[in-house]
Amino acid sequence: MYPFSAGLYAPRNRWYVAARSAEVGRVALERFILDEPVVFYRTEAGEAVALAGRCPHRGYPLGRGRIDGDAVVCGYHGLRFEVDGHCSHIPSQDVIPPNCRVKAFQVAEHWEWLWIWPGDPALADLALIPDHRTLGLTDPDWIKRSPLYWQVEGRYQLLNDNLLDLTHLSVLHADTIGGGDVAGTQERHEEGDGWVRSLRWIPNAHVTDWVRESRGIEGQVDREIMLTFAAPGFHFGHDRYFPVGSDPATATPLLDIRIFHAVTPATQTTCHYFASSAVDPATFELSATHPPDTASASASALKIFTEDVDAISEIERLLGAAGTFEEVRLRADVHALRGRRMVQEMIRAEQLSPAAAKVPDGH
Ligand SMILES: [Fe+2]
Repeated sequence: MYPFSAGLYAPRNRWYVAARSAEVGRVALERFILDEPVVFYRTEAGEAVALAGRCPHRGYPLGRGRIDGDAVVCGYHGLRFEVDGHCSHIPSQDVIPPNCRVKAFQVAEHWEWLWIWPGDPALADLALIPDHRTLGLTDPDWIKRSPLYWQVEGRYQLLNDNLLDLTHLSVLHADTIGGGDVAGTQERHEEGDGWVRSLRWIPNAHVTDWVRESRGIEGQVDREIMLTFAAPGFHFGHDRYFPVGSDPATATPLLDIRIFHAVTPATQTTCHYFASSAVDPATFELSATHPPDTASASASALKIFTEDVDAISEIERLLGAAGTFEEVRLRADVHALRGRRMVQEMIRAEQLSPAAAKVPDGH
């Protein structure tokens, strides 16, 4: 489906962010992941659990169930499912049919994110989760924002496309982070195994009122924007502001922001969006009138993300009306198209390997 070729949706044998850690607790949480309902909760010991979210008896959502000990109990006829997905109790009979079970997903908790492997649990490889230490997300010296979350009324690749084409900063975010001629600046593209990177160096960039007010940066700056897409749904990078005339290899930034986005397919036409950032306090505390992580800075960040979420839902609205869409491609699309192709290649590789692409149990 657009923007992919017909029949291509999302790779299953990959890690995706499913929830913020704080969202998962001793109350069942339902969230669609790659078109499947999943129920999330924590055991008494605090371990996160993800089970297929549909009772195999009558299809009632386990997300409406009750957490009892380490199990989830269906709220319709009381079937009880343990952390490995097996049914341990049926109120109306003693014998448990062997097919009365739900899939248990592999999950992993890193920083404040709960990751899920929607595909074959036997193939889940923790080494495929981007190393949060290397990314600087767990750096204790940096000021981090707890991740924000949106359920977006648009297919996930629209959001990936958005993050793969930062020329939109100059237009959609003209009032906030669009300072400097981002769209007119030559993009450098790099790529490796499973990732693509966009780099821009913008000399003599104009600073928007938003940056001046929320970040305490004055006048013209040299600006460096980097965003790396680790397919199929994680983006990380930085936005750095330097004194005009700086050598980016050696200069100390006036402001250094690390940026993190996670995009996860929910249904065919909706997705989950998690976003966070981390700021080097040495640069963020430049202005005594702009202490780090103030309510106003958070509200401003919210405005930027909401602009993207609104744009994606508007595109989806028209896609829904038209069915499909033939896009015109521009020079600026080279990077985004490479990222898209990478996701498509992951999906196709699974289709060529039936064992790796097998559909979850019970569906
Ligand atoms: Fe954006």
